[in-house]
Amino acid sequence: MQHFLTTESWSQQSLQEMINFAKELKKNKFQPLLKNKSVALLFFNPSLRTRTSFELGVHQLGGQAVVLQPGKDAWPIEFELGSIMDGDTEEHIKEVAEVLSAYCDMIAVRAFPKFQNWQEDRQDKLIKSLAKFSTVPVINMETITHPCQELAHIMALQENMGDLKGKKYVLTWTYHPKPLNTAVANSSLMIASKFGMDVTLLCPNEDYLLDEHYMELGQTYSSHHGNRLTVSHDINSAYEGADVIYAKSWGALPYFGQWEKEKPIRDQYKHFIVDEEKMAKTNNALFSHCLPMRRNIKATDAVIDSANCIAIQEAENRLHAQKSMMTSLMNYS
Ligand code: CP
Repeated sequence: MQHFLTTESWSQQSLQEMINFAKELKKNKFQPLLKNKSVALLFFNPSLRTRTSFELGVHQLGGQAVVLQPGKDAWPIEFELGSIMDGDTEEHIKEVAEVLSAYCDMIAVRAFPKFQNWQEDRQDKLIKSLAKFSTVPVINMETITHPCQELAHIMALQENMGDLKGKKYVLTWTYHPKPLNTAVANSSLMIASKFGMDVTLLCPNEDYLLDEHYMELGQTYSSHHGNRLTVSHDINSAYEGADVIYAKSWGALPYFGQWEKEKPIRDQYKHFIVDEEKMAKTNNALFSHCLPMRRNIKATDAVIDSANCIAIQEAENRLHAQKSMMTSLMNYS
């Protein structure tokens, strides 16, 4: 049995096979590949794309999806092992995993960090506990990484550029009024370097570097392809000659849980917005974002509405890529 918790556990070739089959599913949406199969979708956080694409994707493959929102329409869940459950949680992740495994063929979960203590959140305990006690494959719909977004992102880039090896890829931090999850940024760094792109992480200063685990992975994957992961705080040189600009905002890890201290620092960097002037420095780069995206905060209307923006194509690819990934997991079971 294989889980889909992080792309770290999957080779570039296996991920490419999922993307290749997703391209086939894009041409022929309705195939009975999950006939009589069921998937539980656990959402601890809101979603538009993930929920819609998973529910419809399972349906299009002949299966049944069940959406559960713990704390809203399902019992609040405890996931600390050995905890004395005298607080707000009503049932333990162990029973949740065992019961849903008895009903369903796969369990997918979205559980963002609590945003109080990064040393706690970086352990990704909830999904790991679910996978430990589940007897069916577990899928990450975004925790501290977002592997489904990675598949859709690479698929969209390949559809537009073909071979990605050696392309200059810039992951740029952008401003947002709130501190956001680092999941998509971690994922962007991992997958772009894993697929052989020449990756630059552009961020305001060292406080906005990603967790050391993902920085090291980005470097390791880059080295494997003869590249070097570049960190830049200089907007002009980072955009110069870029083939891909991927935008994301995230909270600075040294201020995790002390966001009032980070806010005046973050507010100084509103000029990291992706605009036409910056895009003009690139090699006619593709622009994308995982969505949702605040217009004229992260990128200007002109950039989002330009022919170079592939964010909608990437969002559509979530549907095809997840169908392909779920089919793979069922084939491994
Ligand atoms: N990109 C993404 O996961 O979108 P949602 O948060 O709307 O699911």
